[in-house]
Amino acid sequence: METTGRRSEEVYDVVGIGFGPSNLSLAIALEEHGASTPQHPVTAHFFERQPAFGWHRNMLLPSTTMQISFLKDLATYRNPLSRYSFVSYLHASNRLVQFVNNQDFFPTRQEFHQYLEWAAAALGDRVTYGAEVTSIRPVAEAGAAKSELLEIEVRAGDGSTRVVAARNVVISTGLVPRMPDGVRSDERVWHSSEFLGKFNAQDPKDLKSVAVVGAGQSAAEIVRFFHDALPHAQVSAVVPSYGYAIADDTPFANQVFDPGAVDDHYFGTEQARDAFWRYHRNTNYSVVDSDVIRDLYRRTYDERVRGGERLHFRSLTRVTDVKRAGSETRVSLRSLLDDRTEELAVDALVFATGYDNLDPARLLGDFDGHFLRDAAGRHQVERDYRLLSASGLDSGVYLQGGTEHTHGLSSALLSNIAVRSGEIADSIVLRRTERELNRACPVPSARSAV
Ligand code: FDA
Ligand code: NAP
Repeated sequence: METTGRRSEEVYDVVGIGFGPSNLSLAIALEEHGASTPQHPVTAHFFERQPAFGWHRNMLLPSTTMQISFLKDLATYRNPLSRYSFVSYLHASNRLVQFVNNQDFFPTRQEFHQYLEWAAAALGDRVTYGAEVTSIRPVAEAGAAKSELLEIEVRAGDGSTRVVAARNVVISTGLVPRMPDGVRSDERVWHSSEFLGKFNAQDPKDLKSVAVVGAGQSAAEIVRFFHDALPHAQVSAVVPSYGYAIADDTPFANQVFDPGAVDDHYFGTEQARDAFWRYHRNTNYSVVDSDVIRDLYRRTYDERVRGGERLHFRSLTRVTDVKRAGSETRVSLRSLLDDRTEELAVDALVFATGYDNLDPARLLGDFDGHFLRDAAGRHQVERDYRLLSASGLDSGVYLQGGTEHTHGLSSALLSNIAVRSGEIADSIVLRRTERELNRACPVPSARSAV
């Protein structure tokens, strides 16, 4: 394993990797933590590879709404008095009264994005944008049995690198776009995560036939967008199921996203964890909000009434191959009904085929070997979201995301970020206190006095 004795001058209590909503929420939790006083602050810095704050910007389509209540914001579930709540943002924006008149729990994604930008701007002094973390490694300290410090290598937009040191890192690098095997994105073949950027680079007149692959929320929203934005175009939806299935957001099922469900999943039996997934995967994956489903069905029905159908649903169909040549794209579609394959020529092809979960191994490199995995090869994660290490490292590597197998369905979502960030902040501060007490009074009984 690569280690280095090179000690950076900057040493933080915590370095956050990625500054999306999860680590933004952590920055707030650390600021609001009672143990962080001006005399003894919990020092934190965050690195974000985007040039400015942005939350799934390429999917900020008109009229799309949040899939969680505005009260599941960056802070409220942990601290209803926080100045970083969505309600505070509305108040600061002089829209609180109108928002209430609207009687809607689900703001547009556009408005929630503005809220996140507003909060990120207030914390701008502890973030470096345009800075991609490329590796994390332990610092080999002379005479120390276990490494207390981690080195984080950061690459700036101009290619220069710097190294900072921290006692803890919190990896929160988000979902990873997933394409079918062998398919690569380019100027005419896009993953949904690239959608608006790639769409805006085209002349809409050149897009006479487009197709969207998938039956999740991203696919349905993009089909609707194409239908509105390209009134001259044929729009094909390649749907692996018989039709879009509804996202279950009814109250009993929605409890799987409650903070308490994390304990039930984490400490539950294997059978209990399995039941969470078997019964409630349809709260999030391969499902679509009912208003979008009904809107799309209404459109296709209206086209039938008027004549001149241009919205085509190819159900029970999967993509098996994509051939590209210049601006031509031919996609092979296999129907599960008769097992036949046909080719469709399109001017743009969008894969709304979902995401893989965050995997910390890429950033950890050889250091990953320090951390324990379960029988299925997945990282073992403590209840406080810290990777479990074989050697009992003194430094901490925490995950926000990538913990669905241990902490359940809310791991990749916003639902629980306020509480989760608070738990991570508590853990970091508690371990700092323990370390300081041990230094001041290095006898075993000192630990029990914490
Ligand atoms: P997120 O992906 O938002 O942020 C990670 C950040 O890390 C990014 O800004 C990235 O640039 C940065 N980064 C990555 N690697 C880096 C590196 N090596 N160095 C530095 N920076 C790096 N959930 C929900 O509960 N309600 C909802 O309404 C929605 N809506 C929604 C819409 C769309 C279009 C998608 C794709 C997903 C959702 N989600 C959602 C789920 C989504 O995972 C969630 O909203 C958040 O994005 C999770 O926030 P994170 O900060 O964990 O990841
Ligand atoms: P998703 O729910 O994982 O859906 C991916 C879809 O692609 C599935 O229907 C999958 O079918 C299909 N698929 C995969 N490979 C295929 C192939 N070769 N041929 C045909 N279909 C294929 O992904 P998503 O829709 O991007 O949603 C991801 C997350 O983002 C969710 O949490 C969602 O709620 C969120 N989101 C939120 C909003 C919003 O807030 N407004 C908007 C968009 C997304 P199988 O299931 O059969 O594999």
